[in-house]
Amino acid sequence: MADQATAQIGVTGLAVMGRNLARNLARNGFTVAVHNRSPERTRTLVAEHGDEGTFVPAESLADFVAALERPRAVIVMVKAGGPTDAVIDELVPLLDAGDIVVDCGNAHFADTRRREEALREHGLHFVGTGVSGGEEGALLGPSIMPGGSAESYRKLGPIFEKIAAQVEGTPCCRHVGPDGAGHFVKMVHNGIEYADMQLIAEAYDLLRVGLSAEPAEIAEIFRGWNSGELESFLIEITADVLAHTDAGTGRAFVDVVRDQAEQKGTGRWTVQIALDLGIPITGIAEATFARSLSGHADQREAARAAFGDVGEKWQVSDREAFVEDVRRALLASKIVAYAQGFDQIRAGSREYDWDIDLGGTATIWRGGCIIRARFLDRIRQAYDEQPELPTLLVAPWFADTVRDGVPSWRRVVADAARAGVPAPAFASSLAYFDALRAERLPAALIQGLRDNFGAHTYHRVDREGSFHTLWSGDRTEVEG
Ligand code: 6PG
Repeated sequence: MADQATAQIGVTGLAVMGRNLARNLARNGFTVAVHNRSPERTRTLVAEHGDEGTFVPAESLADFVAALERPRAVIVMVKAGGPTDAVIDELVPLLDAGDIVVDCGNAHFADTRRREEALREHGLHFVGTGVSGGEEGALLGPSIMPGGSAESYRKLGPIFEKIAAQVEGTPCCRHVGPDGAGHFVKMVHNGIEYADMQLIAEAYDLLRVGLSAEPAEIAEIFRGWNSGELESFLIEITADVLAHTDAGTGRAFVDVVRDQAEQKGTGRWTVQIALDLGIPITGIAEATFARSLSGHADQREAARAAFGDVGEKWQVSDREAFVEDVRRALLASKIVAYAQGFDQIRAGSREYDWDIDLGGTATIWRGGCIIRARFLDRIRQAYDEQPELPTLLVAPWFADTVRDGVPSWRRVVADAARAGVPAPAFASSLAYFDALRAERLPAALIQGLRDNFGAHTYHRVDREGSFHTLWSGDRTEVEG
């Protein structure tokens, strides 16, 4: 039981993520107060890992708070939504002005903004913090994305920067921006994670069908890719998952898993918010919808029964060239997904006045998080050199890579379409690229139609102002 304030930080909520974060803090030399609603978990943590550092276990929230040095810093690691609000409501009366409440769950940034405002009225700091890296990351070094006030970061920064993943001596943690900025950036991280995973899955599918290859062979291809520009955590674990054999059946693991992908909601939030901000994150949206589609088993069964196999027979003649085409298409599509994600962060930052540093965001995603990848360092460099870059696609290395990949990208998407193999994220990323670089888009016709049926007016290419054509009259043009 805590009888004096010795702990530099506390963690309440000791399910696996909370427990691992607490252990990471203790292993890094911080004295950590620990608390869980049912005290059994607190006892287990101390019994199993008490020798890893200094834990101050507390059975009541009041004792937990009393164990903390001032200004107190409390990490709340409970389920997003109602449970987080319930813990905050219990905590607030026990805290004093200047204390800091940190929410490290996957909260919606709008909830974080609301909580930050409410706690500010009590003189408290509320710090919505994105934490990525799963269970292992929480223990060994995650990527940490704290929002909240600059003042709160003065206390939290040295702690979080120490427990975060380190890349070439730089911690994968920095103050992202005020109030909900940290959770917003984590949300977009997850959106990109969805796109990355969907693109990897499509690449696997294309290789499997195009080459008539077994998962273990494809694992080797991914393993090879992981030593080049595609090097990333997700490519690495793709090779692992594809190479895994199911012990019970002796079949490839990937063949005994139901082909219905689930989601907890962060990808969906990313798409919803992108719609509100008017940012076309088509790759992320396609990936999110692809998960939904996979879950519609009844529709899939009905369509399969109605149409069967209507694709053309697909025969890859040059296997090596095809593998290289898929690799280039994957890299180009991945660049599109990251370009779109960073566009969304910039738009959110402008909308909410967060002043988020895009290069800095790429810096803290280089290690620890699920989307950590070699090319995040190139993204960091691109935005550091040109913070107002119109789109990542035009930064020199990205432009060259995409340009080099275009013929492969087109071949892969066209082959997939002919063979009837769905590659929605590949195809939509290519369409996004083509739309962005088009001299003229058919949006002009859409404007004409809107004006025709709804007098919505249009702008001309040759004169300023807005105009309307009297479509049901003599078709003269008037100023709108
Ligand atoms: C991370 C992950 C983590 C988790 C998400 C996504 O950054 O560590 O993104 O937050 O994997 O919950 O899960 P869903 O796929 O269920 O949405």
